[in-house]
Amino acid sequence: MRLSASTLFLLCCLLFSQCQGPTHAAKQSYVVYLGAHSHGPAVSSVDLNRVTQYHHEFLGSFLGSNENPEDAIFYSYTRHINGFAAKLDDAVAAEIASVWPESKSFSDEGFGPIPSKWKGICQNDKDSRFHCNRKLIGARYFNQDYAVHKGPLNSSFYSPRDINGHGTHTLSTAGGNFVAGASVFGFGKGTAKGGSPKARVAAYKVCWEGLGGCYDCDIIAAFDMAIHDGVDVLSVSLGVKRPTFFGDGVAIGSFHAVQHGIVVVCSAGNKGPADSTVENVAPWQIVVGASTMDRDFPNYVVLGNNKRFKGQFIRERPSNFECKKGTLDPKKVKGKILVCLDVNTSSVDKGLQAALAGAVGVVLINIQDFGYDRTADPHVLPASAISFNDGDSLLGYVNSTKHPVGFITRPTTEFGAKPSPFMAAFSSKGPNHITPEILKPDITAPGENIIAAYTEAESPTNLNEDKHRIPFNSISGTSMSCPHISGIAGLLKTLHPDWSPAAIQSAIMTTATTLDNNKQQILNASFAEATPFSYGAGHVQPNLAMDPGLVYDLTVNDYLNFLCALGYNKNVISLFSTNCSYTCPKNAISLVNFNYPAITVPKLSGSITVTRRVKNVGSPGTYQARVKTPEGVSVTIAPKSLKFINVGEEKSFKVIIKAKNASVTKDYAFGELIWSDEKQHRVRSPIVVKAV
Ligand SMILES: *[C@@H]1O[C@H](CO)[C@@H](O)[C@H](O)[C@H]1NC(C)=O
Ligand SMILES: *[C@@H]1O[C@H](CO)[C@@H](O)[C@H](O)[C@H]1NC(C)=O
Ligand SMILES: *[C@@H]1O[C@H](CO)[C@@H](O)[C@H](O)[C@H]1NC(C)=O
Ligand SMILES: *[C@@H]1O[C@H](CO)[C@@H](O)[C@H](O)[C@H]1NC(C)=O
Ligand SMILES: *[C@@H]1O[C@H](CO)[C@@H](O)[C@H](O)[C@H]1NC(C)=O
Ligand SMILES: *[C@@H]1O[C@H](CO)[C@@H](O)[C@H](O)[C@H]1NC(C)=O
Repeated sequence: MRLSASTLFLLCCLLFSQCQGPTHAAKQSYVVYLGAHSHGPAVSSVDLNRVTQYHHEFLGSFLGSNENPEDAIFYSYTRHINGFAAKLDDAVAAEIASVWPESKSFSDEGFGPIPSKWKGICQNDKDSRFHCNRKLIGARYFNQDYAVHKGPLNSSFYSPRDINGHGTHTLSTAGGNFVAGASVFGFGKGTAKGGSPKARVAAYKVCWEGLGGCYDCDIIAAFDMAIHDGVDVLSVSLGVKRPTFFGDGVAIGSFHAVQHGIVVVCSAGNKGPADSTVENVAPWQIVVGASTMDRDFPNYVVLGNNKRFKGQFIRERPSNFECKKGTLDPKKVKGKILVCLDVNTSSVDKGLQAALAGAVGVVLINIQDFGYDRTADPHVLPASAISFNDGDSLLGYVNSTKHPVGFITRPTTEFGAKPSPFMAAFSSKGPNHITPEILKPDITAPGENIIAAYTEAESPTNLNEDKHRIPFNSISGTSMSCPHISGIAGLLKTLHPDWSPAAIQSAIMTTATTLDNNKQQILNASFAEATPFSYGAGHVQPNLAMDPGLVYDLTVNDYLNFLCALGYNKNVISLFSTNCSYTCPKNAISLVNFNYPAITVPKLSGSITVTRRVKNVGSPGTYQARVKTPEGVSVTIAPKSLKFINVGEEKSFKVIIKAKNASVTKDYAFGELIWSDEKQHRVRSPIVVKAV
């Protein structure tokens, strides 16, 4: 679906005008204007009928059950102008005018009829004010398991509406339409768009009341529906660390989706920087860590001794903030800048408490674990989040004088921050706690201070006391990095409709970079070198992922063989499969030989021969192997060169890893294997080794 040039000028999706003429009946004639069509030259009568049908459905969702949209509509504009003319009550007209789109990121300006393969629905039977359109083509909610845990639910739980902001933000990051002039309180101004801006999107709401209440039975129901509805990519910004794959609703749901050719992208989790905190770990999920980008919202804390510390903040001071209650002593705090250690409770809540006690500003000092990773939050009062080390100097100054003084500058939007990207401290890390042979996370993408659409049902801080409502917000988390990869997967799927989910995963992984904008190894949040346990194959490079040269492909049977090798009950595995003739192989596969685009040997004893298979998806060529050897081992590739003539041709090779120095490989050691051809394809896989 292409956006034609003429439609780009129409900023509003749903203009509304009343036809001129005598009015004596209760109903008046209105034009419901929906923009322009972009049918292309080969438009058929089926396409035109589908537009009319959509107009009927659209109006029907606003009318009472005893009213018929077919009777109300007297023109359906199907060819160039999109919209319809109808006789409507003023109240219905006003409702149509006010409802959609609430977020311009989901405007369907320039979108043609909904593709016929789509089987989803807009589940607004209990919330007639919720509407879909030709961009947001479906929305459903799943609350039955939540009700089992929490008891009877009131009407607010019978709607797919996002009242928290998380779903709007993640979905618009994956597939939001172009919105010019987006910003957060004037910061980060630019055109907002999702990774696949022309994609149709649908929402499956499974999380209730904040982000805690997402239950497995609801999650599995949502996967089941999404597979039925005909989605191509699932962006799953949720997860919990579970001891087995069969005990994990996201892993089970993802498996079934992948079995139907759907790409499933999941967040790594926000439990970093401790080891083995990654939450989604199945090989059929593309699991995404979070890193920074080179755009910052810096401000400065300037002290009486002229020291300046760079912090982050993303809001102007709201003028109408009311101080009511608080936990801090107003006698001590009033008129002061409060210095807080940023532990335990949310940062924005600390800002709120400071403001409630009459503080004029707040400085939040990172805990040591979080190093230089500072989040630009929309605090309700002037604030600055500074690094652990700077915090130490600041506290030293506070201690050194009876009357410490200072001020906080206004934030600015700054580009070109270095180093960038570096790993966000909160980003969950490997190794994989279920199958250490499978590297997780797989990839990293921007997840710090991400600006995307937001619900106006909530304040930007999610604090009740904060009365602001903004259409775009800055949020941080692996929930935000996950949809970056989902958007890219959407583009790859459009370019290469025949690629399997594993081929798309491989393309994204093998073209990633492990270097930052200083041309150094990507760092962690304390500015020490990060490892594949933080970033997987590296930071995503979408343009290179379009043409990876070779892919490490996998079929559904490979995943089933993987489950057999883990020793899961064979009967359960048969139930898991849609392939009736599938049975576990007599000799279980070795997990290190699972054809993953990363090579991980967690228990090296002496030496091991690992096998892999690559498939040509590019031009003919001869690839040469190059290895950056992990410390303490030797690595030999056989053969060292692979020649491909045809697309789809597959070749196997061996990776022989020998321990040289057991005292080194007692800890994980990291290296890489690169296959490169004469046409600048570089197919890079991390190598991760540890001795028993
Ligand atoms: C429904 O229940 C939720 C959570 O218990 C509550 O926050 C909300 O105010 C209730 N809404 C209505 C309309 O009663
Ligand atoms: C933070 O929470 C932990 C665990 O509940 C607790 O042990 C610790 O004392 C808290 N720290 C502060 C500064 O409140
Ligand atoms: C500041 O003084 C407090 C209390 O005496 C002490 O605990 C803290 O370590 C000091 N901090 C610095 C950075 O000097
Ligand atoms: C960064 O890596 C160093 C060295 O492994 C480690 O000591 C430190 O805790 C890590 N910091 C973060 C924030 O991950
Ligand atoms: C089903 O499984 C059988 C036996 O493992 C295999 O030969 C066949 O290719 C599979 N079919 C599909 C569609 O994956
Ligand atoms: C093994 O590595 C350790 C630590 O780097 C080193 O001290 C030792 O000399 C090495 N031994 C051999 C045989 O290379």
